[in-house]
Amino acid sequence: MAQSTDDVLVSRDGGVLVLTLARPKKKNALTGAMYEALIDGFDQAQADEEIGALLLRGSGGVFTAGNDIGDFIAAAQTPHTMAAYRFVEALALLDKPLVLAIEGAAIGIGTTMLLHCDLAFATSDAQFKMPFVDLGLVPEAGSSLLLPQRIGMVRAAELLLLGKGFSAPRALELGLINAIVPVQALENHAAREAAALAAKPRQAMLGARRLLRGDRTALLAKIREEATAFAGALQSGEAQKAFQTFMSKGGRP
Ligand code: COA
Repeated sequence: MAQSTDDVLVSRDGGVLVLTLARPKKKNALTGAMYEALIDGFDQAQADEEIGALLLRGSGGVFTAGNDIGDFIAAAQTPHTMAAYRFVEALALLDKPLVLAIEGAAIGIGTTMLLHCDLAFATSDAQFKMPFVDLGLVPEAGSSLLLPQRIGMVRAAELLLLGKGFSAPRALELGLINAIVPVQALENHAAREAAALAAKPRQAMLGARRLLRGDRTALLAKIREEATAFAGALQSGEAQKAFQTFMSKGGRP
């Protein structure tokens, strides 16, 4: 059963289910309980005929600092049970359109979620980064398949192997977000676009989305392959050292 948490707020705005990451003191770093709450939100949206789209946003001026690094340390004992894996599969299998509103840091899964959403809007201060290798880890969320498909292999290597951070203008240039929106307009803009998706003829919308995404077999196979490699990497000395460095504030990945 899912642990309950106040760190994800679930609300409705007409036909849109709004999920808000609400752990600002920890830069909305995602815990197991938060992943479970997001999965519950996805399930709720899938089951509810009134809901036509989902909107995911952060709070406190940050989207998310990615997976909670303390949870990574704890998960090294039983790496296959991490809720993050179930979240990634739920993300890949979501049938209803997902809109992201991104302000500030969007690290790790905060960036790889871009590869699964339908629309993404970011403020000019948004910062994206996939520091998996620097943390002794490997890419997740199907990013090792989807990112080279989207932006080409050499650019994917720059972001996934070198782990270079990138700005909102660069994300726009790479086709990873739709638009850069002023901070005071972000919430309304993303909500309006999500509402527009939700208001479309439902069956046509879901059918069009299925066509855009195509067969998900290869993606799901890649997600599982990544999860196996990720679980192994979590237990490595390289990863444990990187996590301890972060936790002791000795450096940032
Ligand atoms: N896991 C656990 N705690 C995290 C975290 C994470 N991923 N990201 C931030 N935090 C915590 C910090 O430890 C700090 O806690 P404290 O106040 O108890 O010391 C608090 O959130 C604020 O973070 P801080 O680093 O002081 O804020 P900042 O504004 O200087 O930097 C980030 C923000 C997001 C750039 C930076 O925190 C960061 O790089 N986080 C790690 C990102 C990461 O590697 N995620 C894993 C991806 S796979």
